Amino acid sequence: MQIAQVNVPADLIHFGVGQPGFDLLPLDLLRRAAAHRLGQDEPALLQYGLETGSGYFRQALAGFLSQGYGTAVSPDHLFTTNGISQALDMLCTLLTRPGDTIFVEDPTYFLALDIFRDHHLRIISLPVDDDGLIVEALEEKLQAEKPVFVYTIPTFQNPSSVTLSLSRRQRLVELSQTHGFYVLADEVYQLLDYTAVPPQRLFHVSDRSRVISLGSFSKILAPGLRLGWIEAAPALLEQLTASGLLQSGGGLNPFTAEIVRSLLEQGWQTEFLTRLKAVYRSRAAALSRALHHYLPDAEFAEPDGGFFIWVKLPQVADTAVLLEQLRPYHVAYHPGLKFSAQQGLRQFLRLSFAFYDEAALEEGVRRLQVGLAALV
Ligand SMILES: Cc1ncc(COP(=O)(O)O)c(C=O)c1O
Repeated sequence: MQIAQVNVPADLIHFGVGQPGFDLLPLDLLRRAAAHRLGQDEPALLQYGLETGSGYFRQALAGFLSQGYGTAVSPDHLFTTNGISQALDMLCTLLTRPGDTIFVEDPTYFLALDIFRDHHLRIISLPVDDDGLIVEALEEKLQAEKPVFVYTIPTFQNPSSVTLSLSRRQRLVELSQTHGFYVLADEVYQLLDYTAVPPQRLFHVSDRSRVISLGSFSKILAPGLRLGWIEAAPALLEQLTASGLLQSGGGLNPFTAEIVRSLLEQGWQTEFLTRLKAVYRSRAAALSRALHHYLPDAEFAEPDGGFFIWVKLPQVADTAVLLEQLRPYHVAYHPGLKFSAQQGLRQFLRLSFAFYDEAALEEGVRRLQVGLAALV
């Protein structure tokens, strides 16, 4: 069975789970926000919603994002979604036809690859280094290929946690103008910085007409809300709102958006994010310490934010094979192969530090060490 965004047996420590732990899901906060919003006696809350999402919600979201990003976000550039996964699907529907070419990073978020495959797209991988997507490699590929879009996770990437440098951001946006492709910037970890503030977002770098930024409450509040946003030029948002899906069903997720609006307006989301970041910072440090202690041969960079440590095991030929052999040790992870559209990265594995507390993270790495010592 493929474990993607699902729960895990109690006796297994599964480092693949890239979602907030149960201890971090803010039931109380949602209870308060729901009571606040439902107490307003506004039946419109239960009506079909405005196609772009309610103006009040987008106003509150713009305020929260402007503060979090440190640069102004306009509500006119925002469109409410059911999360990034749904936004990607909708953008593929709008922008592509089967057989069209798109570029992704290698490694990239493996479940986005599934969405692109659903749309029968031709996926071409671009290499990544410590400064993120290698834009020179993109330039070279552009000589022969005409992608509809480049899908990038520019900040605290999933799975590698690398961040695209400012100069590469500038070059990428320039190239999108000259070659006429869109940049789909999946910025799901943008607000989750622990030890270094990321550079300006692609949307703010220069001419933004070809940049589409994707955001979500999944990692900063709760994934079950299925609430996110697209930030893009109004002309693109108009195309999205003209879709049959919205014409028939109205705006996406209006009820939940209104509850979250209360959370944003009351400043509760900002407070919660501050607490969340302190927990993730500590978990990232604990996982890193455990790796240094138990697996001194493992190669990895300390993450500055996000959810993951991307580990290379030089003594292992294929981490997918190792994963099967590790079953008796009750520890699992996502092997590098999963993150590669070209079947590479076999010496890598992705460890998430978001789901488990410090003690469980250490225990998981200890199990890895015991398994590796017996098997390799
Ligand atoms: C890079 C990336 N994009 C998107 C998602 C999913 O986002 P959402 O829950 O908003 O669909 C994830 C979750 O793991 C992710 O890591």
